Amino acid sequence: MTDVPTLKVYLNDHQIGVLVHLPGDKNLFTFDQAYIDNPNRPILSLSFKDAAGELATAVKTTRTRLPPFFANLLPEGQMSEYLARRANVSAKREYFLLAALGYDLPGAITVHPAEEIKHLKDVLPLNSKKLKNVEGPLRFSLAGVQLKFSAIKNSNSGLIIPANGIGGSWIVKLPSHQFKGVPENEYTMMELARRVGIDVPETMLVPLKEIESLPKEVDQLGEYAFVIKRFDRTAKGKRLHIEDFAQVFGVYPEEKYQRATYRNIAEVINNEIGQEGIVEFIRRFVYNALIGNGDMHLKNWSLLYTDKQKVELAPAYDFVSTLPYIPNETLALNFVDSKEFHSLSIEQFKRFSAKARLESHLVLETIEETVAKFAEIWKNSEDLPLEKAYRDLISVHLKSIPIFKK
Ligand SMILES: Nc1ncnc2c1ncn2[C@@H]1O[C@H](COP(=O)(O)OP(=O)(O)OP(=O)(O)O)[C@@H](O)[C@H]1O
Ligand SMILES: [Mg+2]
Repeated sequence: MTDVPTLKVYLNDHQIGVLVHLPGDKNLFTFDQAYIDNPNRPILSLSFKDAAGELATAVKTTRTRLPPFFANLLPEGQMSEYLARRANVSAKREYFLLAALGYDLPGAITVHPAEEIKHLKDVLPLNSKKLKNVEGPLRFSLAGVQLKFSAIKNSNSGLIIPANGIGGSWIVKLPSHQFKGVPENEYTMMELARRVGIDVPETMLVPLKEIESLPKEVDQLGEYAFVIKRFDRTAKGKRLHIEDFAQVFGVYPEEKYQRATYRNIAEVINNEIGQEGIVEFIRRFVYNALIGNGDMHLKNWSLLYTDKQKVELAPAYDFVSTLPYIPNETLALNFVDSKEFHSLSIEQFKRFSAKARLESHLVLETIEETVAKFAEIWKNSEDLPLEKAYRDLISVHLKSIPIFKK
């Protein structure tokens, strides 16, 4: 046995590699030889695919942070600070944060310390199956962004957020301090997306008072939480592997608005999934432009591996009309050479198709279908709980988009 702290990295039930923490706060990931040698190995990430389609095994050593693939498994912002505080580790020292959270990561990755990490064990064994009810009440500052937790549905259809904030097959997004009506907005946008034909998981708006173990202050922020079924867990609780496009491109979470464009995403989908993927990509892209969602960055698109070696586009998530909250809102990433919603003309989509080598007729047909369907659905969406002021803003916004005006 070595003294070097080591995390065993599992994909579902198989160990695929190890992360070691080296002197100088350095972190090194290496694949296990058995995974490398396995011709039927499950895909970990497209970022580990080299030009010849083989496994790229050389992963750069990083300092303090983890390699991007692993850094992207950690929660962002306030959630990361909160969980780090509970685990008594610094959110910046990602190796230890991953060790603490390793039992409840997105998708099918789990990490397990090769030996006990002493100070973690004493403070908070987040990384344990026994955790369900060990913790005291949730305590966190509500100063910042919208908080999000996994939850378990109980028998009388209420929701329980496990006291440590992890576990369960639903995701609960609490109202935001900063922006008004986000749960209602997201619920409406996901529902409209479903009506347009986009692949959307089951969702609910749940009264905050029906959610157990929420801190009192949350009540003052609004009436409802937005709740969405996790697509990386099956009904039986099996984990399904996913990766987001920050992982696909091997970039850090904070680079999610910068380091790639919609063309890059489309090219990956086209190469890995083909026509069906491109139709769904264009449908979602157009839909989000129509509702004025300027937040479709690299972490709001994911791939799902229901079959270990087959790539699919994961269902939709995080569709919010951000237009009411952000003055002069734009697209999150570059589209051809612009981020402006009003640059979205048929001509621009033709250029996009040519550059990304997509079948132009498929793209144009999908735009036409999506726009027509949306126009119809938008007229008949009074049943959805969207504030009138937001609805009016979206109606005005629609008129500024060339593909909508035709
Ligand atoms: N239904 C779902 N099933 C599985 N994973 C999900 C689901 N919804 C969200 N996630 C995961 O949780 C992460 C955060 O969720 P989401 O994007 O909805 O929240 P957010 O905090 O509003 O993000 P952002 O920083 O983009 O505003 C996503 O990046 C995704 O990895
Ligand atoms: Mg998001």
